[in-house]
Amino acid sequence: MIAVREGWELDVMRSAGRKLAEVVARVTERVAVGMTTKEIDAITEDAILAVGAKPAFKGYKPGKVAYPASICISINEQVVHGVPGKRRLHEGDLVSLDFGLVYGGYYADTAFTLLIPPGDPLDQALLDGTREALYVGVAQARHGRRVGDIGYAIENYVTPLGFGVVTDMVGHGIGRRLHEEPSVPNYGRKDTGAPLVPGMVIAIEPMITRGGGEIKTLADHWTVATKDNSRSAHFEHTVAITPKGPEILTTLDPVPLLQPNIR
Ligand code: MF3
Ligand code: CO
Ligand code: CO
Repeated sequence: MIAVREGWELDVMRSAGRKLAEVVARVTERVAVGMTTKEIDAITEDAILAVGAKPAFKGYKPGKVAYPASICISINEQVVHGVPGKRRLHEGDLVSLDFGLVYGGYYADTAFTLLIPPGDPLDQALLDGTREALYVGVAQARHGRRVGDIGYAIENYVTPLGFGVVTDMVGHGIGRRLHEEPSVPNYGRKDTGAPLVPGMVIAIEPMITRGGGEIKTLADHWTVATKDNSRSAHFEHTVAITPKGPEILTTLDPVPLLQPNIR
């Protein structure tokens, strides 16, 4: 069953999303070249607790091994779920940061990629294309559209740019659990999949590469990297479908609604 949230639940999820956006802002202003990923994890955990929330990822255990940290940091050919450790950020690194918290019983999930200067222009193009792909997907998160419209829009935007779409990892419904129905793939066909209706909340999260879309999981049981070692970017927002259109919950933007868009 796909959850359709009541108005009061959306208000709690708005608070959770805003808190996560505050966490992202606080952490981002402190990230610097030379820092270890474990240091960024500690800063993130402190920031999540400081806004009165709990880390969503720490202890998360869908399989055999619980996730050990409060943030996922995935560098260069790593796609998602990179585990913080002793590795230091270097010039030219393409760094994806994925943040999650739970507040008032509701989850929020957001990610972005940054390029540490001086960066490769092709990495910058990947980063820009993946961020734009997220917003192209968000624009489809409207009553009357279906999940396949989101995936189609994302795939159709990035493929002509020459980038690869990771298909084995997908976006998801979100609410009382981090991962809920429906799956929200970054590929698809128009007018297919679950219908989108007001009250649904989904995490849209394109994972895009400079090479192919195939992935592998590393020996730490968590870190996902491209099979061809091509570099990868990841952007994610938690988005509510409202009667007025898509509302991005994980932002500090005073007007988090997109304008109506034309198909
Ligand atoms: N944030 C991831 C997502 O976007 C999930 C991370 S689960 C973790 O769905 F355990 F790896 F943190
Ligand atoms: Co995430
Ligand atoms: Co997610």
